[in-house]
Amino acid sequence: MDRGRMGARLALLWSWLCISALFGLPFTPTLDMDVTPRTTVLFNGLLGSRWFNSSSQNYSTLLLEDQAGVLYVGARGAIFALVTRDIGAAGSSRTINWEASAGQKLQCLNKGRDNQTECFNHIRFLQRFNETHLYVCGTHAFRPMCTYIDVDHFTLSSGFEDGREKCPYDPTNGYTGLFVDGEMYTASQYDFRSSPDIRRNYPYPTVKTEEGPIRWLLEANFVGSALVRDSVNSSVGDDDKIYFFFTERSQEQSPFFSQTRVARVARVCKGDWGGLRTLQKKWTSFLKARLVCSIPDYEFHLNVLRSVFLVEAQPAQSSIFYGVFGLEWTNVKTSAICRYSVEDVQKTFDGPFMESQESKWIEYTGKVPEPRPGSCITDAFRARGINSSRDLPDEVLNFARRHPLMSRHVRPQEERPLLFKRNVGYTQIAVRRVTALDGRPYHVLFIGTDEGWLHRAVEVGGRVHIIEELQLFEKTQPVDRLVISPLQRSIYIGSPTGVLQLPLSTCSRYTSCFDCIFARDPFCAWNGSACADIESQPGRSGLIQDILKGNRGCKNTKDGPTVFRVRSVMAGDDVLLQCELRSNLAAPRWTFNGRELQGYGLDSGFRVGTDGLLLIGARAEQSGHYACFAVENGVHVLAANYTVRVRTETVQPGESAPPPFPATERPLPSPPAPLEPVPLPQTFRNMETVYISLVAILGGLCLVLSVVLLYMSFSARTARRGKRGQQGPGRNERKRSSHMELKTISSRCNGERAERDERMAGATTVDGLLQIVPGEGQASPSKDSLPPAPPLPAPPPLPSSEYANGLSATLPSVLRKMNGNSYVLLRQADSDTTSPLYHSFTEELNRILEKRKHTQLVTSQPDESSV
Ligand SMILES: *[C@@H]1O[C@H](CO)[C@@H](O)[C@H](O)[C@H]1NC(C)=O
Ligand SMILES: *[C@@H]1O[C@H](CO)[C@@H](O)[C@H](O)[C@H]1NC(C)=O
Ligand SMILES: *[C@@H]1O[C@H](CO)[C@@H](O)[C@H](O)[C@H]1NC(C)=O
Ligand SMILES: *[C@@H]1O[C@H](CO)[C@@H](O)[C@H](O)[C@H]1NC(C)=O
Ligand SMILES: *[C@@H]1O[C@H](CO)[C@@H](O)[C@H](O)[C@H]1NC(C)=O
Ligand SMILES: *[C@@H]1O[C@H](CO)[C@@H](O)[C@H](O)[C@H]1NC(C)=O
Ligand SMILES: *[C@@H]1O[C@H](CO)[C@@H](O)[C@H](O)[C@H]1NC(C)=O
Ligand SMILES: *[C@@H]1O[C@H](CO)[C@@H](O)[C@H](O)[C@H]1NC(C)=O
Repeated sequence: MDRGRMGARLALLWSWLCISALFGLPFTPTLDMDVTPRTTVLFNGLLGSRWFNSSSQNYSTLLLEDQAGVLYVGARGAIFALVTRDIGAAGSSRTINWEASAGQKLQCLNKGRDNQTECFNHIRFLQRFNETHLYVCGTHAFRPMCTYIDVDHFTLSSGFEDGREKCPYDPTNGYTGLFVDGEMYTASQYDFRSSPDIRRNYPYPTVKTEEGPIRWLLEANFVGSALVRDSVNSSVGDDDKIYFFFTERSQEQSPFFSQTRVARVARVCKGDWGGLRTLQKKWTSFLKARLVCSIPDYEFHLNVLRSVFLVEAQPAQSSIFYGVFGLEWTNVKTSAICRYSVEDVQKTFDGPFMESQESKWIEYTGKVPEPRPGSCITDAFRARGINSSRDLPDEVLNFARRHPLMSRHVRPQEERPLLFKRNVGYTQIAVRRVTALDGRPYHVLFIGTDEGWLHRAVEVGGRVHIIEELQLFEKTQPVDRLVISPLQRSIYIGSPTGVLQLPLSTCSRYTSCFDCIFARDPFCAWNGSACADIESQPGRSGLIQDILKGNRGCKNTKDGPTVFRVRSVMAGDDVLLQCELRSNLAAPRWTFNGRELQGYGLDSGFRVGTDGLLLIGARAEQSGHYACFAVENGVHVLAANYTVRVRTETVQPGESAPPPFPATERPLPSPPAPLEPVPLPQTFRNMETVYISLVAILGGLCLVLSVVLLYMSFSARTARRGKRGQQGPGRNERKRSSHMELKTISSRCNGERAERDERMAGATTVDGLLQIVPGEGQASPSKDSLPPAPPLPAPPPLPSSEYANGLSATLPSVLRKMNGNSYVLLRQADSDTTSPLYHSFTEELNRILEKRKHTQLVTSQPDESSV
C-alpha cells in the first residue's frame, strides 16, 4: 500500500510537471487552424445525390463542358459522356470501350507489370481538341496511345497515335496536361527510365525541359497545371503563361534536412519556341520556385503538394490558387491548405536566382545578363529587336540554362495555412466564388479526402470554417477528382468505383433560422420560413444570412426544433433528459427553473454530457423545469424543455392506468450495492482509489499529450522519427468540438453508430493506462426530433465503454483546456474496473433504461411531446 502510494505521488508529480510543461508551449496556433466540421453527414443522409457507375473502375479523368451539359469521364478501359443535369439518369449515358488488346496485356505482364491494376488502358488525358473532336490518351497496358473522339457520334477515330511522349506508362504516375489554343502541354515522368519533363507536344517542333548540365526537374511528381492569360490588356505586351505544380526531390540544401522533397511551382511562356543554337527546342522561359506551406513558429513544413486549384480573376495577376499539402511520410496523415497569389509567384520569378557551385545551391549575387533570362518576350524585348525566343542572345540563354531555380520562396498569403488538419488526408480541392447576401465574394472550398469524405468550407478573413463534412461513399475510397458545375450548381466527384454528383449546397438541411445562419453557408439564407438557396428565391429582401459572424439576424431563440416533454419519475430513479446537439460546434447549457445549473459534482446529483443531462437518484427537490440550450457563436438557442415531476409516494396498482404486467413484476430488481448512486468516497480506501485513478488518468493523459508533442516537434525535424507518428495519438480519431464534455449516456447508440465510431476511432490503444475514444458530437444526419420516450433496444457493448464515474464531472474541463479537440471516454486499465467506484457504461445504461421502462409504466400521464 505504501509503495503504491509513493508511486502514485511520483506519478502525480510527473503528470503535473508534464502538463505544465505542455501549457508552457504555444500550442494555440495549430489548434486554431485545426477546425472541426460543424456538422457530420453520413452516407445515408446525403440529399440530392446522383451516382454513375459501370463495370469499369478508376473514374479519375473528368472533363466538364458545362454549356453543352456534358460531363466526359475517362475511366479504366472506357470513356463516358454523361448528362450533367443527372449523371445517373437511366439510359442517358454514352460509352466508348477502349481497352488494350489481349496481346498488349500479355506484353505488359511480361514486362513484369501487375495484370490486376496496371495492364489496362487507364484514360489519363481527355480534352477538347476542336469543335468536333476530343483528344484522348490512355496508358494502354504500358504502351501509351492517343486518339480523337468524334463528339457527335461518340466514337473513336480510326487513327491511333503513339502516346509515349504525351501520357505516362504508369497509371499512378503524377501527370498533368492541357490544351491551350490548340497547343498541347503535358508534364510527367512518362516512363520510369526517362527524366520528368514539361513539354509542348503540339504543334511541332516539341519544346522540352533541359537535362544538362543541371537537371531542371528531379523526380518530379506533377499534380496540376494552369493557364494565366497575362497577355489580355497587358500594358507591356506580356505573354500568356502556363504554370505547373509538382513535388520534386530537393537539390538545394534545405534547412529542414529531414525532408527530401519540396513543393514547387514552375512556369513557361506560351510564346516560347526555344533558342536558336543554345537551348534549341528547350524552354528559354522555364523558372521554378519553392512553394512553402508551413506553420509559423513550429518549423513544421508540409512539403508534398497533392492538388491545386486556380481561382481566376481580372486582371490575371490577381488570380490566386489554393494548394493541398501533406507530408512525405505516408504513415503520418496530416493536411494543410495554403493560398497563394499569382502576383507573389511572379515577384519571386523576378527576384534573385539560385546557382549551383560545387554541388551546393546558393543565391547568385553576380551580374544578371540583359535582357533578363527566363523572361517572356514583351514590348521591351521587341524594342531591342528581339521578336521571339529564337532571337535571344546566347549569353542570356546560357544563364537561363544554369539558373532554373529562384532563391526566394513563394510564401502563402497570411504567411500560414488557412487550414491545418491532423489525421485527415486531403487529396483534392475545388473552389467556387460566391457572392453572399452582404455583397462580398466568398470562396467556398470543396475538399476531398483519401477516405471518401468531402469537406465543404468557407473562407472568411483568412480563416476556414468547415460548414459540413459529408461521407460520400458507402465504402471507404479516395476522392480522385473534383469538378464544379456553376450551371448545374453541382459538384462531380470521381472515385475508383464511380462518379458522384452532389448539389453545391443543401440548405434545406438547416431547419431553423439559427441553424441556417450558424452554418455560415454563403449559398443559403433564411427566408422567414425555410433555409433556402439564395438563387432559388425571387428577391433578396427579407433574407437573413451572416457569413462573417454567424450569429446575427435571427430573432426568436426558441423557434428551433425544440423538444417539450413532461416526465414523471419515482424518487431514487435515474433520469436521462436527452438533448442531442446537431452541431459539433455547439455546447450544451442547462437551466433548472430558469437558473443556470452549475456544478455537476459528485453530490449534486447531476451529470451533463453531449447528449443530455442525467439525474442520478432523483430527489423531490429536483422537480421542476429543465431547459437545454445549445450555445453556438455566443447565442443560446433553446433545444429542449423538460418538466420533471419526482414522485415520492408509491403508485398503487389500479390507481393510475392499469399496468400491463402483474404488480409483482414491476419493481425491477434494484441494482446491487456497488451501483448505488455514486456516493462520495468516505473511507480512506475509497479516497485512495480515487487518488490513484486520478493519477492514472492524468498520467495517461500526459502520455498521450507527450506523444502529440513529440509528433509535432520531431516530425518537423527528423523523418526517421516521424515514422513513429504511427503510434501517435489516434491517427484515425475524429476531431470534435472544443466544447465537448464527457459523454454520459447515449440512448441512440445503435449498432451503426457504434460501428462508425469503431471505424473512426480505430483501435487506439495507448498501453496500459487509458484509452481515448473520439468525442462524438452529433452523428445522426437526420434532423429528427427526439422520439417521445423511445423504446430502446439494449445497446451493443461500446468499444471501451467504461470510465471513471466519479471523476467524470471534473475531467472534461481539464481535457478541454489541454486540447481544443475533445477526447471523451476514458477507460481504466482492467485491474481498475474491479474497483467498486467504476462500473460499466453499458451496465449503467442498461440500468437506466430498465428504470425508464419502469418509470413509463407508472406514469399516469404519458409524456407529452411537441416539436
Ligand atoms: C453500381 O453501384 C451500385 C450502387 O452502389 C451497386 O449496387 C452496383 O453493383 C454497381 N454496379 C457495378 C456494375 O459495379
Ligand atoms: C494475371 O497473371 C497471372 C499469372 O502471372 C494469371 O494467373 C492470372 O490469371 C492473370 N490475371 C488476369 C486477370 O489476367
Ligand atoms: C477536328 O480535328 C479532327 C482530327 O484532326 C479533324 O478530323 C476534324 O476535321 C477537325 N474538325 C474541325 C471542325 O476542324
Ligand atoms: C480589357 O480592357 C477593356 C477596355 O479597357 C475592357 O473593356 C475589357 O473588359 C478588358 N478585358 C479584360 C479581360 O480585362
Ligand atoms: C522583329 O520584327 C520587326 C517588325 O515586325 C522587324 O522589323 C525586325 O526586323 C524583327 N527583328 C528580328 C530580329 O527578326
Ligand atoms: C483503380 O481502382 C482500384 C480500386 O477499384 C484501386 O485499387 C487502384 O489503385 C486504382 N488505380 C488508379 C490508378 O487509380
Ligand atoms: C422560403 O423558401 C422555401 C423554399 O424555397 C419556399 O417554399 C417558401 O415559400 C419560401 N418562403 C417565403 C416566405 O418566401
Ligand atoms: C419550458 O416550458 C415551461 C412550461 O411550458 C415554461 O414555463 C418555461 O418557461 C419553458 N422554459 C424555457 C426556457 O423556455
